[in-house]
Parts: sequence; structure tokens; C-alpha cells
Amino acid sequence: MSKIKEIFLKDYTKPSFSIQSVDLVFDLFEEYTTVTNIMQFTKLDETVNDLKLHAVNLELQNLHLNDLKLQENRFVVEEESLCILNVPNSFSIKIVNKIYPHKNTELEGLYKSGDIFCTQNEPEGFRSITPYLDRPDVMSVFTTTVIADKEKYPVLLSNGNKTQCHEFFSTDSSRHGVTWHDPHPKPSYLFALVAGDLGSISDSYTTASGKPVELNIYCDLGNESKCYHAMKSLKEAMLWDEEKYGREYDLEFYNIVAVDSFNMGAMENKGLNIFNSAYVLADEDSASDVNFMGIQSVIAHEYFHNWTGNRITCRDWFQLTLKEGLTVFRDQCFSADLNSQEVQRIEDVKALRERQFVEDASPTAHPIQPKSYISMNNFYTATVYEKGAEVIRMIHTLIGKENYRKATDLYFESFDGQAVTTDDFVWAMSEASGINLDAFKVWYHQSGTPKLKVKKEFKDGVYSLTLTQGISQSVDGKEQGAYFYPLKMALLAKNGEEVVAKTLTISQMSETFSFENLEEEPVLSINRDFSAPINIEEEGSDFAFLMKHDSNSFTRYEAAQSFAVETIEQLMQGEEINEAFVTAFGYILDLDIDASYKALLLELPSVSSLMQRQREIDFDVIYEAKEKLAEYLAKYYEQKLLSLYAEYHEPKSLELDNTAMGKRALKNRVLRLLSANDTQKLQELAKVQYENSLTMTDRVVALDILENSSSEYKEEAFRDFYEKYKEQTLVMNKYFSLLSASHREGVLQRVIALQGDTVYDEKVPNLVRSVIGVFARNYKYFHAKDGSGYTFVADKIIEIDKINPQMASGLAGAFKIYSKMNEVNKKLMQVALECVISTQSLSKNSFEIINKILK
Ligand code: PHE
Ligand code: ZN
Repeated sequence: MSKIKEIFLKDYTKPSFSIQSVDLVFDLFEEYTTVTNIMQFTKLDETVNDLKLHAVNLELQNLHLNDLKLQENRFVVEEESLCILNVPNSFSIKIVNKIYPHKNTELEGLYKSGDIFCTQNEPEGFRSITPYLDRPDVMSVFTTTVIADKEKYPVLLSNGNKTQCHEFFSTDSSRHGVTWHDPHPKPSYLFALVAGDLGSISDSYTTASGKPVELNIYCDLGNESKCYHAMKSLKEAMLWDEEKYGREYDLEFYNIVAVDSFNMGAMENKGLNIFNSAYVLADEDSASDVNFMGIQSVIAHEYFHNWTGNRITCRDWFQLTLKEGLTVFRDQCFSADLNSQEVQRIEDVKALRERQFVEDASPTAHPIQPKSYISMNNFYTATVYEKGAEVIRMIHTLIGKENYRKATDLYFESFDGQAVTTDDFVWAMSEASGINLDAFKVWYHQSGTPKLKVKKEFKDGVYSLTLTQGISQSVDGKEQGAYFYPLKMALLAKNGEEVVAKTLTISQMSETFSFENLEEEPVLSINRDFSAPINIEEEGSDFAFLMKHDSNSFTRYEAAQSFAVETIEQLMQGEEINEAFVTAFGYILDLDIDASYKALLLELPSVSSLMQRQREIDFDVIYEAKEKLAEYLAKYYEQKLLSLYAEYHEPKSLELDNTAMGKRALKNRVLRLLSANDTQKLQELAKVQYENSLTMTDRVVALDILENSSSEYKEEAFRDFYEKYKEQTLVMNKYFSLLSASHREGVLQRVIALQGDTVYDEKVPNLVRSVIGVFARNYKYFHAKDGSGYTFVADKIIEIDKINPQMASGLAGAFKIYSKMNEVNKKLMQVALECVISTQSLSKNSFEIINKILK
């Protein structure tokens, strides 16, 4: 395995050359594309003789230095580079090379999604398009001409502003071209190109300083009517960034293109975002509330990158969280501002715990600023993104809202147009606020979820809180110092009143905080708003009291979750159902509060959160106990749940505002709770909801419930759904996901059969994710004790690795919990993983993940 090479942060060196400008011409044909690349270089380190450019599988047509054609002895082509020997201090290079986009199934570099030519260059895709210094700290001004068949590809796009249109009447009148110029220097990973016969919608935006911007969203012909929600979201994001960060857009065009084949969610290419169509296209009939919210947040995320990522970019890929953690924090705040603060915070924490906490406790754990990688593609993780966002949020809490705004202003002024590090960011935060953040930096370099042990004492009117940090071990075995973070807390009197509300600063391995002059022993509400991404270990907490009285929406939710977890764990140990929990649950049912928040309070803990607490994971035990509690609640509160359902169910409502979405969330939560009891009544409700509801949200929930019930109507409902939506792959993803996540017997056989469906295509990541990816997270059957789930997914990884390594290593992530599994499952997992890792010519992406898991 010669290509497996580990890259280290400590080996970073500055570039030896800079590139002033790049002129690219793309001649697109069906069978190949010719790229002409003219670059102006300046030597920065005069001791260097040779120019080594990144180039993957280069098919070189010709090469010129300062207009002189270079002979074979002046350059060397290797598998991943083009080295030009003995170059002067200042010179131009012209390269002509050939690439094959229609054969590109990895979806990196220039490829075809259906009939659309498009690009994906982050992190290192550009080097497979043309030779370049493909690293984020080399920023240059790009001019791009795209030439293609006029009829097949009427729309030709690249970054920046459109400067010229070309016709070739004398040579080939069937072709045309467009030139784009991007005045802002940028790294190659932000380069983009699109060519296709596209539909579009247009709008405009006037920036705070009065500059007009033309906004376009492009999609497959026929989907134009599904782009309006994305357009609305874009304008909301532009306004929000002006108001909250004082940042304006800086080009005449903002273009977004939706494509069906895309490895990730979307990409922030300067002035030309390319999106997975799942994050653009939506209408009331085909998209769920979750989809609408997802589109709003991803559109905003990519827009926000224009400043946090594009204007100020990363020095090297180890700094990825500089742009991603910060941009996720920004999009989380945006969504909270536009929708609901309390719901947004809980949803963000839920996602963090489901994905990031699991990763952080696994062999693939890494600090938000990793120290090494084999394939950078493997580091677009929940840790870099979501934990990275928590780190920014903690800085925001520590320095305060006003200082934070001063500090971001300083960051933008100081580093605009540069490629910088996370240290530069922390410097700006500290400099503007006057708060020393040196001790805070451990968050960037240490993996694992910190623990905090809480000891409480009350004596003579003094309440003391002794907080002890768990010992932290870094990946390289070195012990790190204590974590530094804000911890929001309150003390509540017996009547629920807040007698103390504070943000403590935690900085020592162990410290005691005392609160005096208390009349009675208070109840502690700790880590309010989830002010730090840690695990609290606290004994003797009064969950029922906090469920009733906690005025912090997050810790109140937390109390409900913890109480349910405790109850389920008691069941796992063979104990009876705790009636106190059942009573507290009933109290929530009766509360008159915001419907979407109530829906969250009524949600039982996820299987993932229960699994994380087990020393040795056994899913069968978890499911059994959780189902027992769910069934009990469904029976006990049947009447109440039914009347809540009737009260909130509005089948004809198509509204997308918070009230309507909240009502749907609550009524569907109630229906799911009822579904623990497979009654005639429940099946009837689901059937009627499927048939009568106008929203996709309602119909998908109804289908899910039918699928997991004994209802005979399920076949008919699924057939109906299929016939109605088989032309819309985004909806078919939902259809496949429902079937792959099913808890009914025989799901694996049905998943295997689904791959034969005419809609299924192994080359389209969304479809692979909704069939194979969803099955790999169907704990009940992926972890079947006969090993069938593991064997199936392992075979798929081997197969898909040959098509798209990034997809394959994503699937391999399902095996992350290997080391914590019970002996039976562990053995079976090991066999499957060893089979994958011994495969001939496995990609470095899959190798890196599986190798870590097996170690
Ligand atoms: N930078 C993209 C985003 O966050 C994610 C991405 C990474 C997309 C790599 C494609 C490839 O917003
Ligand atoms: Zn991003």
C-alpha cells in the first residue's frame, strides 16, 4: 500500500511559491475535457529550484514555461505530482491536460451528475482537474472560460462575475463559451464550474450599503417551483449576516446549483455554491418540515462561509474547524433567531450527543484540530463541525455578546484575504475582550468528552458545590491540563424560584463554589443551556422537581431525559416501572407550553444515548427495556394521548410557520407514543393520517408507524406512495429509508431486494445512504446476533469503495462502536472488518477508518 501516507500538522511548512493569477479554459466534450491552465508564479524561497505541483493521474498534452515548450528532461510526472525543474524567480507556466468527467464516480474534481457537469474540490479535488499548488494557503485570482455545446449546455457557470460571452461562428457554431472573473483571491478548493441545461429562478438583493446582487438558483428543468424556499432562506441569511456580524456580500452574482449526485450536503465555492439537491428542492407535497428547516440552515451555512471560510480561509486542513466550527455556530444562531431558541438548542445538543459523543468515545476520536490524517476526507466529522461549534459557543459565553461582536470585527479586519489558524482566531477573541484564553485552548488539542463530577453539600445555610474534572488523556497518551469553560447553573427554592443564577468559570481539576445565606436546601440546575459539551455525573438529582420547575428550557428537557434513562435502566436490571416517572410524564402531557418544545419533552431517550452509558453494549437489552416503558406509557395515558392527537391534528394545514410545524411535531410525537401499543385504533389513526394529510411530514410518520405495526394496510400504503413519487428521487430516499429502518422481521432480505429497484443507483450517494447507510444504523438488525447485518454492510463497503471511497468510508463509520460491543457481536464485527481491510487495493479513506477501529 504505497499510497498510504500519514500527514502531520507538525510538518507544516510555508509554500515556496505564490500564484498571482490563474487563467483556465475548459473545453467540455462528452468523452473528455481539455483543460488549459496558465499561471503566474513568484518564488518566495530562493533556495528552492524546482516547482512541485499537485497532480493526480495527470494526462499531460503539453507544457510551457514563459512561452517555451518544455522538453522531457525539464519535468517529471509522478502518480500525484508534476515537478518542473530549475525554475526562475518569476515566470508563467502553461499546462494543457485531458480529463474524463463522465468516468469520475468518486464525485471529486470535475464530474457529471446526470447531464450536469459540476465540480467538488474541497479538500483536494482540484489536483485531479489540473496541476496546481492545491493547498488552502495558496490564494490566487481566477479567470475561467467554459466552452461547451450550445444546445446541451446552455448554462455555463464559474466563480465571480460574468465578464464575456463567446460565439465561435467561424470555427464551430454549435459551441459557445462564457468567461467568469473572480476578483477575490482564493484557494483552489473554492474553485467551481457548472455546465448544463438547467432551469432556474432569479431574485435580487440590495446589500446594506446599497449594492445590488443578482441571485440565481439552478436545478434540473422542471424543478424550478421547488426552489423558492431556498431563495427565501438565502435572502434571510444575507440580511442576518449584515445585522448580526456587519458582513455584506461582495460580488454581483450569487449562484446556487442543485445536483443529485453529491457526497456531502453542499459546498461554499465562491459565488457559485453547489448543493446536494436534498438541501435545495422542496415543496409542501414532497418535503417534510425537517427538510424545510434543513434547507434553511444549509443555505445559510454556505452563505456564511463567504466570510468565515472564503474571505478568511484555513492555513492548512488541520485548521478545518476554524471555518466549519465557526460557520456551524453561526448557522445554529441564525436558525434559533428565525425559529425557536429553545427547540434549536435542544436539537443541536441532541445531534451532538448522537453523533459526536459516540465518535469521541471511539477509536476514531480526534481533537477538533487533529494532529494527523491519512485521508483528509475522513475529517469532515461531527467533531470538527459540531464540537467545533460548541467551542465557539463557549468562547461567546465566556467573553459575552458585546465582546464577541467586537472580537469578530477584529478577526475580519485583521485577517481578511488571508489563510490563518485557530490560534489567530482565539487571539482576536482574547485581544478584543481582554480575557486571557490560553487555558481554553485545550479544547482544540484534546479529544474525548470531558467529565465533571458534582458533589453537593448543605450546612448552616451554606450550599457548596465541589466540581471535579475527569482525568483527561490525550490521543498521544500525554496528560493534559484541566479544561477551562463556562458552566451556567442555578439554585432553585422548593417553590421553584431561582435563588441563585450564575455562570461559573471552571478552570481547576477540582474546585468548590459556595453559596451563602440560604433558608432551605435548594435544588441544583446545572449546565443550563448546555453551556459546555461535557458529561455531568451528579447523584441524587430531583428530576421530577426540575421537570416541573426548572425555568431553563434546556435543563428542564434534560431532567425529563435523565429521568426516563434512569427508569429504563432500572427495567434493564429487572426492576419494576418507576411510578414517579410515569406521574412526571403525565405532568408534561398536561402542560400548556409551546407545542414543538412539548414534543421534545415527551420524547423518550434514543437508543444511542442509552447505548453510550453501557459498559458493554447489548442492543437487545436496550430495546426490550425501552419498549416496555413505551408500551406502559401508551396504555396508561391512552385517553390523554388520543385527545391530544385530536386537538392538534390538522390534516388540511399546509402552513410552514412555527405554530403549524409545532402542532405537527406534537401530534406526531403523540402518535408515535401511542404506536408502542399495536392496537386497531392506532392502526386506523395512521391509515387515516396517511390518506388525508396534505403534508409529507404527516404521511411519512404514518407510513413509518404502519410499517412497524401489524396493519395489513401497509403494503397498499407503500405501493400508493411508490406510484405517486417514483419520479422524484428525493421522495424515494424517504421511501427507502423507512423500509431500511424498519424493525419488522426480515428487514435485511427486503433491503437486499430494494437494491434491485429501478429507482436505486449505487452511484448516487443519497440513495446509498438511504438504503445501506440507514440499514447500518438500524441497530436492531445491523447488530443481529447471526452476523448477517455485518456481512452485508462489509460486502457493500468493498463494492462501493471501488466506485466512491468517500461513501465507503462513511459506511465504515457504523462499525465505530466495535470496541465497546459485547463479546458475541464483537467477534462477528471483527470477522467482517478483517474481510474489508484485507481487500486488494482498498482506498486510503476506508483503510484509515477500519484500521483505527481494529487497533
Ligand atoms: N465545506 C462544505 C461545508 O461545510 C462541506 C464539504 C466538504 C462538501 C467536503 C464537500 C466536500 O459546508
Ligand atoms: Zn461548512
